[in-house]
Amino acid sequence: MLQKKPQDWPEPIVRVQSLSESCFDSIPDRYIKPPSDRPSSSAPFDQSNIPIIDLRSLFGTDAKAHAATLAQISEACRDWGFLQIVNHGVSPELMDKARETWREFFHLPMENKQQYANSPKTYEGYGSRLGVEKGAILDWSDYYFLHYLPLSLKDYNKWPALPPSCREVIDEYGREVVKLCERLMKVLSVNLGLEEEFLQNAFGGYDVGACLRVNFYPKCPRPELTLGLSPHSDPGGMTLLLPDSEVPGLQVRKLDTWITVKPAPHAFIVNIGDQIQILSNAKYKSVEHRVIVNSDKERLSLAFFYNPKSDIPIAPAKELVTPEQPALYQPMTFDEYRLFIRMMGPRGKSHVDSLKSPR
Ligand code: OGA
Ligand code: NI
Repeated sequence: MLQKKPQDWPEPIVRVQSLSESCFDSIPDRYIKPPSDRPSSSAPFDQSNIPIIDLRSLFGTDAKAHAATLAQISEACRDWGFLQIVNHGVSPELMDKARETWREFFHLPMENKQQYANSPKTYEGYGSRLGVEKGAILDWSDYYFLHYLPLSLKDYNKWPALPPSCREVIDEYGREVVKLCERLMKVLSVNLGLEEEFLQNAFGGYDVGACLRVNFYPKCPRPELTLGLSPHSDPGGMTLLLPDSEVPGLQVRKLDTWITVKPAPHAFIVNIGDQIQILSNAKYKSVEHRVIVNSDKERLSLAFFYNPKSDIPIAPAKELVTPEQPALYQPMTFDEYRLFIRMMGPRGKSHVDSLKSPR
């Protein structure tokens, strides 16, 4: 079983942004990945991309177009576990404003950011590592993590006070993205052959969890030796990622290669998390992804995690369990599940695999 919750980091925290400003042609050993994990071991540049899907018809009355969009989403969920959506209803101005506000935050003087330094107890605030294993090899990124929902966990004092518009922008962004997530939950339910409200109910109704992780990937003098974020699947329900508008970096695993996502303008990248893999009895899979860095441009992304209510058991939908397709996972609450990643950090798909029912 899992050990007790960690109280503090096992070693002093170093901000990657500070390292980036002081390292000119080398990086500390702590960030050097073993050769098999380095980005250079991936396939050469290739032309494929995750599917780009226009959601316009979901807001209209043309039933045929609506059904066609649902079919496209269904295919992307099954084949990729990842899709990009455009014309999704969130205003492009708000998306730009959210990115700009957070870029400003990361460019504040260090003392302004340090006052929000996080601990592994809740991870809220300004952080530079995931996992508490002493001596672990670290990723080349800093982040800011905060709770948007449930309201009982939402605490403005844990959100940055600067830049002055920050809290207001996060609030507005959160509201719009939650609406979009609610819509996607219906689409996914119907596509799985379930009642429209199925996934939302399984998540505990509308009193779900939602959190934002803003990732900041500073320039790196030796990008071929490290990763901005190690391979992982997202532990929660579903993720809406707003990537950097100019700098690519996200790679998605497709069989044995890593595909670099080419973001479409003002698209969100949507991916299935471990909890929907479990609820769907693996009809949909959470797919591994990682982030590479580069030597001449920093990169910023906003990952919005839409999660089940944290204290209810999540298990395969009984409608999707048959004698031919027995339940693949044992029930577990998201609170319990999240401890895996909070202790051990990003580890491919080992966390969800460890829930497999004994055969
Ligand atoms: C994440 C993530 C990808 C990115 O935060 O879980 O996968 O492009 N981010 O920053
Ligand atoms: Ni992720």
